Amino acid sequence: MAQKTLKISETPWQEAYARLTEIIQPRPIALASTLDPELGPNLAPFSFFTIVSSNPLYLAFCPQISGRNGTPKDTLLNIQRHPEFVIASVTESIAEQVNAASTPLPHGESEFDFTGLTPVPAQKVKAFCVKESPINMECTLVEIRSYGNDPGAGNLIIGKIELIHIDEAVLDANGKIDPALLQTVARMGGADWCRSQDRFSYVRPDR
Ligand SMILES: Cc1cc2nc3c(=O)[nH]c(=O)nc-3n(C[C@H](O)[C@H](O)[C@H](O)COP(=O)(O)O)c2cc1C
Repeated sequence: MAQKTLKISETPWQEAYARLTEIIQPRPIALASTLDPELGPNLAPFSFFTIVSSNPLYLAFCPQISGRNGTPKDTLLNIQRHPEFVIASVTESIAEQVNAASTPLPHGESEFDFTGLTPVPAQKVKAFCVKESPINMECTLVEIRSYGNDPGAGNLIIGKIELIHIDEAVLDANGKIDPALLQTVARMGGADWCRSQDRFSYVRPDR
């Protein structure tokens, strides 16, 4: 079988990054709502996003240093200044607005205004929830780990989930979140996204 091997130390980082995002897919998308204490709210999507601990309940996402201009993204700057944030789920109904929220607006310009998504006050944190998303998770910062200052360098942001708000419209009769109602979308390689509506089930062998 012919195979191509990428030696990462000899591969331009942009190419290695593109291959990795084609390999690790589909990736769920965190819609991160943050706050600059002086300049106000900010919203941006991040598909480098996962659970990191169930007890305590921690999640992580990763704003990279911009590959475009080598600067830290507003989301990172805001969390460094104000260590709280809200992560909203990205569903089919808001996918286009979420994509628009990735526009690199000048620091201090709100992607809420730009996309038409609606900020609503959270209960525990000062960052806003996203009205149009059925799930909003209020988080406090646990730690930030930075992996350099070069374009593309990652910043791992770990947050403790303090409150989860769930729109009852996405709950089934047993109070569980029904994926057929939630309708999340995810990120593939390049410009591709995917839906979560083609599913199958296995009972785990240890259950
Ligand atoms: C669906 C989607 C997922 C994205 N995932 C990431 C990511 O995981 N890490 C990252 O640095 N940028 C990611 N981006 C790009 C950021 O959203 C974009 O750089 C944005 O302008 C950052 O906003 P901010 O400067 O307001 O924080 C993604 C964009 C889209 C549309």
